[in-house]
Amino acid sequence: MIVTAAELFKVAYGRFAVGAYNINNMEQTHGLFRGAIQSQSPFVIQISRGARKYADKRMLEAMIRAAETIYPDAVFVVHLDHGDEATCYDCIDSGFYSSVMIDASHEPFEKNVEITRRVVERAHAKGVSVEAELGMLGGVEEDIKVEDGHACLTDPDQAKEFVQLTGCDSLACAIGTSHGAYKFKGRQSIHFDVLEKIQQRLPGFPLVMHGSSSVPQSEIMRINAAGGKLDPSACGVNDDEYLPAAKLGVTKINIDTDGRLVWTRVHREYFRDHPEDFDFRGPGRVFMTEYANFIASRSEKLGSKNTL
Ligand code: G3H
Ligand code: 13P
Ligand code: NA
Ligand code: ZN
Repeated sequence: MIVTAAELFKVAYGRFAVGAYNINNMEQTHGLFRGAIQSQSPFVIQISRGARKYADKRMLEAMIRAAETIYPDAVFVVHLDHGDEATCYDCIDSGFYSSVMIDASHEPFEKNVEITRRVVERAHAKGVSVEAELGMLGGVEEDIKVEDGHACLTDPDQAKEFVQLTGCDSLACAIGTSHGAYKFKGRQSIHFDVLEKIQQRLPGFPLVMHGSSSVPQSEIMRINAAGGKLDPSACGVNDDEYLPAAKLGVTKINIDTDGRLVWTRVHREYFRDHPEDFDFRGPGRVFMTEYANFIASRSEKLGSKNTL
């Protein structure tokens, strides 16, 4: 069953965080739905502009509609990840997406407000929820690369003003995480002090944490042992911090990189161990099972297990 983010977040707020996972293909989709059912957890299925180009947006929609009938017990939000204004309108008008993210966080405050307000108006007229972003994460966000020195944490007072001015349903905050596999150099972690201030100013309002993959060291090592060349300094968010963040209002936690690492590890190991094989269904089956288990493990860390 497809639900809106606003509905789901009302149930989750302060209790647990909802995992938000990107999909680009059939194997990820099966794995995600299976893992969510296995752990009795609601989830957000996220589609980026890159995914819509890669697979064709119609293919993704058909696949998710099929998954809905294959897994009738699944409860999920269909969400556009890091949308620009035009893509938000395309998704709102499609009647398929129940949530969109307008990411104008690279614009000055007033312009971000102006763009977000327009999207909120069009989305709410059709019952679609809107996630907006204030502040800038480091790393690569879609086609925009933010150098480490230019990332800036969300200002708590501005966050309150932004939400009041725009009417958005949730807010992605920059609290120290970044996209990709190389998040922290040295001691950094989630800035809980900033998060707490944001929650104090926006009590009850759902916050979103992007760049939340945990980048397990074991995955990096297995990928490299099977022929990969990932930088061993790769490092992610401590997944024991998901629940403390959820208690401070983080209601949606975005995880994409970790799934890519599972895919890469499974495929590298499979072809290393079966050099005579060329049937892609071999590693595909392993990946779907491994990804389902990974999703179920996230449900535990997010506190969303057994909440359906
Ligand atoms: O934040 C970015 C997500 O990991 C999606 O990545 O734009 O390469 O599909 P993508
Ligand atoms: P990761 O790169 O940490 O998986 O973040 C994904 C994300 O924020 C998608 O919007
Ligand atoms: Na998003
Ligand atoms: Zn993101």
